Amino acid sequence: MRELLEKIRADAKAQLSDNDADIEALRVRYLGKKGELTAVLRGMGKLSAEERPLIGQLANEVRADIEAAIEERRQEMQERLLELKLKKEKIDVTLPAEGELGHIHPLTMTQRELEDIFIGLGFSIVEGPEVELDYYNFQALNIPENHPARDTQDTFYITDNILLRSQTSPVQVRTMEKQKPPIRIISPGRVYRSDAVDATHSPLFHQLEGLVVDKGISMGDLKGVLELFAKQTFGEETRIRFRPHHFPFTEPSAEVDVSCFACGGKGCRICKGEGWIEILGAGMVHPNVLRNCGIDPDVYSGFAFGFGIERIAMLKYHIDDMRLLYENDTRFLGEF
Ligand code: DAH
Repeated sequence: MRELLEKIRADAKAQLSDNDADIEALRVRYLGKKGELTAVLRGMGKLSAEERPLIGQLANEVRADIEAAIEERRQEMQERLLELKLKKEKIDVTLPAEGELGHIHPLTMTQRELEDIFIGLGFSIVEGPEVELDYYNFQALNIPENHPARDTQDTFYITDNILLRSQTSPVQVRTMEKQKPPIRIISPGRVYRSDAVDATHSPLFHQLEGLVVDKGISMGDLKGVLELFAKQTFGEETRIRFRPHHFPFTEPSAEVDVSCFACGGKGCRICKGEGWIEILGAGMVHPNVLRNCGIDPDVYSGFAFGFGIERIAMLKYHIDDMRLLYENDTRFLGEF
């Protein structure tokens, strides 16, 4: 009987396969009610009183042994299955997505091209909050309460003191407060105005602000930078023109035009017969603004400029209605 039990143990283990159904069949065959081991136990009545407990113990051992072997094999198979599944379902995140990929929005494209131009000139990019304090959007920029310049920049108020910024110029102040000259930054971003939507207006649009502060910065530096920007944006032939203007935060201030890239200055539909197209505001940073930021205007000077990114995109890509930039009509976007 001892040999029979050992044979059952060895056979059962040797026959363990990698197939669920086979394993179950094997379990029934050896350990089931009508199984071989049970048959052996049934025959124990014939054993002597001394032998019976010994064989009984061995039989239990063999049962436990076979059960353990089955359990172990099942576990192994489960692990292998999981491994296989993991291998098969591994996602290669570096592969391109399937189907239509889309592309960068023309506004973002324009913004990135503009950023590249200024990065090439040694500017760095800084960002400022869109929810802004009245102080940064107006007061620190030399626009006190009740100043008429606030009329043209009516925006959305969260409280009397907190508003959606109407221009990117507050980033000038935030930058000068934190960083001492030399400063050479641009700051692109969203701005808000309480304007009704039409072909050239939107309550949300984008601006790009520029600021340079150092010792000995002059209007000549401003002209040089803007001329380079204009040529890179609208073509090598482009000329620029400064017209005197007023901004509270610059003195002197100017509006800057580029020669029409469509007609070269002769006058056409795009420049409305002018030969020139207005693109931005600029000037020398007002001494009050420098002082508000703790920079001594007797030691440092600077220039600043700001323009609408939509306007540049519309000129560059001949878009005649600003709303096209926000409607996400794929027939329009697909043209870029
Ligand atoms: N912030 C002005 C606007 O929204 C644009 C501007 C004009 C920015 C002159 C400047 C500047 O930095 O010097 O109309």
